[in-house]
Amino acid sequence: MFPKNSDQITRNYMDSLLIETRYIDSVLPDSHLSLWGHTFDTPITTAALSHLNGTAPDGMKIYAEGAVQAGALHFVGMGPEEELRAILSTGAKTVKIVKPMADQDAILRELKMAEEAGCVAVGMDIDHSFSSNGTYDNIFGIAMKSQSYEDLDRYINSVSIPFVIKGVLSPVDAVKCRRLGAAGIVVSHHHGMVDYAIPPLMALPEIKKVSGEMAVFVDCGFSSGMDVYKALALGATAVSVGRHLMPLLKDGAEAVSDRIKEMDAELRGVMARTGIKDLASMDPTVIHPTWPGSTVL
Ligand SMILES: Cc1cc2nc3c(=O)[nH]c(=O)nc-3n(C[C@H](O)[C@H](O)[C@H](O)COP(=O)(O)O)c2cc1C
Repeated sequence: MFPKNSDQITRNYMDSLLIETRYIDSVLPDSHLSLWGHTFDTPITTAALSHLNGTAPDGMKIYAEGAVQAGALHFVGMGPEEELRAILSTGAKTVKIVKPMADQDAILRELKMAEEAGCVAVGMDIDHSFSSNGTYDNIFGIAMKSQSYEDLDRYINSVSIPFVIKGVLSPVDAVKCRRLGAAGIVVSHHHGMVDYAIPPLMALPEIKKVSGEMAVFVDCGFSSGMDVYKALALGATAVSVGRHLMPLLKDGAEAVSDRIKEMDAELRGVMARTGIKDLASMDPTVIHPTWPGSTVL
């Protein structure tokens, strides 16, 4: 019936969403994104990747430069302070995602460092606490631990820049994030962290209903402007793209930026053909779900 691989399920779900066209009164659309006092040329952001220096020499910096050249918000995952400073030196408006480490003082130190270094936001990927074997995870020798509501409250209150909680796939967690005062969430299964995960776009409509003022990012498997459009129509504020951009790193920042710009152009092409003039005008009734039992409203 279903493959167990969450990336495959996610791809199949994304492709099962059909769109209707709306031409009358339609105009050339604007895809600029306003967020947290910044304006970006596109609602496509990079995803919080890490360890890219093996993919291409200086891969982490090239990835950030690609975001800068595309006028996109940049996310970065785990990595040392020097690497973050190199990323910020590109001028990338960066969201630093900190790991759910067992050492909570280390978390507080890293959040403070990221804030002082000039990140536009910080956050945590809460879905990386556990291994698949019923233990806490250990990433490159660093022990992880699950984080409670109170822990997250302490982290959010330790900084004065927006805090993003990454790895939300349920309205139950989304409500907690909203109550905590998170500025944003990333609807994600972290490239298939768990098998049979609900596709982010399937989870999105119910999460959107409870998300209040939070920015709602989505990632996992986005590889075209059409994919991005479907997420935005279903209520996402912005869409993060990671693995789709990775093979381009070896060709340099311009290749990364060109693909983000191309995806944004594809997005605007679909917006034009569905009567959507800007991001604020996105409309879920354009989407027709075809999987049994799936809804978009
Ligand atoms: C090489 C690699 C490194 C990653 N490192 C991190 C990380 O440090 N922190 C994090 O929150 N997510 C990390 N992720 C997960 C991505 O942010 C993202 O959630 C996931 O890859 C799904 O998006 P995608 O399909 O566009 O890649 C990493 C993913 C990859 C492929």
